[in-house]
Amino acid sequence: MLAKMRPGIRTTIEHRRGLSVNVNVILDQLRHIAATKNSGWRTLPPAAYSSEALYELEKSKIFKSGWVCVAREDQVPTAGDYLTVEVAGEPVMLVRDHDGELRALSNVCRHRWMRLCEDSGNTERLVCPYHAWTYRLDGSLQGAPEMSKTPGFDASQIALPRIRHEVWRGFVYVNIDGAAADLKPQLTDLEPMVESYGVDDWRVAHTVDCGEYPWDWKVMQDNGECYHHIGAHAETFERNYPARQIYTECSEAWLTTVSPCRKESLRTGDDGHGYAPGEFEPVDGLAEWQRESFFLIYVLPNFFIYLQPDYGLNMRVFPVSAGRIRMLVDVMLPPKNFEAPNFESGVKNIVDFFKRFNDEDVFVNSRVQTGLCSEFATPAPLSHLEEHNMHVAWWIASRLTTDGESAS
Ligand code: FES
Ligand SMILES: [Fe+2]
Repeated sequence: MLAKMRPGIRTTIEHRRGLSVNVNVILDQLRHIAATKNSGWRTLPPAAYSSEALYELEKSKIFKSGWVCVAREDQVPTAGDYLTVEVAGEPVMLVRDHDGELRALSNVCRHRWMRLCEDSGNTERLVCPYHAWTYRLDGSLQGAPEMSKTPGFDASQIALPRIRHEVWRGFVYVNIDGAAADLKPQLTDLEPMVESYGVDDWRVAHTVDCGEYPWDWKVMQDNGECYHHIGAHAETFERNYPARQIYTECSEAWLTTVSPCRKESLRTGDDGHGYAPGEFEPVDGLAEWQRESFFLIYVLPNFFIYLQPDYGLNMRVFPVSAGRIRMLVDVMLPPKNFEAPNFESGVKNIVDFFKRFNDEDVFVNSRVQTGLCSEFATPAPLSHLEEHNMHVAWWIASRLTTDGESAS
């Protein structure tokens, strides 16, 4: 099921600030954050969130050289299923072949660069809408009309480039340049915190397509902290999940935040344990902190999931340009909850709750993007409840200031 939440909000964002600041000035500030491991607990410089020149560096040094989560594997379950995304402007598709193999392929035709497939669907073969070149599901070219007279043309030598991918607990990650260190070893120490949810077997019950939003991917990443329960989410999260109770753990590649529920808001499960509020039967075998909290997991730069004891949200955020993102949000359920008598109403309630708190995030994120373009915006001090932001700023700064950066 795919629901169009509403057309992407389109407002004019002035990039004046980012455009007027030389990217080398921004990089000097990032070098300081990287060198000190952000011991001063500061944000990135405001100009970093709207600089097109810095975004070009982010594309190469973060999104194309790292691991980017694109979807759940269960979103392309059967032969012929495909799903498309753009990873920082790079068209990518996931395709399930007839033999059951999942592949990540370039979604750009090998003739004259037409985007091959749109959105998602199921097909026997991949046919380019421009001149009808036809590819098999493994990406090899099956046929190309009126090309036999072209000197040196050999269809057997032509295929859509394969993109390296890894599946971690059902989440499909791609690495565009193919040169990143393997993903799974980087997540080994995250495993003990995730294992008991059993997310490997969870499936997507519903996707909300939020369209494009007028703020930078780093504004979205900054918004991953739970300090803002106090203000932006006073009417939603703060009632049950007070910001002052959160705790964050950071590793090199990942971060987690646990947001404990107030004891008086817990519901009692069939096993007699207290559980954070939800719609369905919780997963069996969770630890006490998992039963009584919601749990956020981030794998930088863009993996962001929200886990409750009975469901999860996979927030898929893709940068479109400096100051602009595309977002899709998948509601994930453990297999047993697909059989629940309240399946439809439960999913609807989860989606409604997401829309409520997302509206609150839209309100702040869109205004933050405008505010950081102010002539008066400066790097800001972070609260102890914003360890997430402290670590993310360091991680981004260190990625962008490693050897070889050059920008005019
Ligand atoms: S661009 Fe795809 S067939 Fe011509
Ligand atoms: Fe939020």
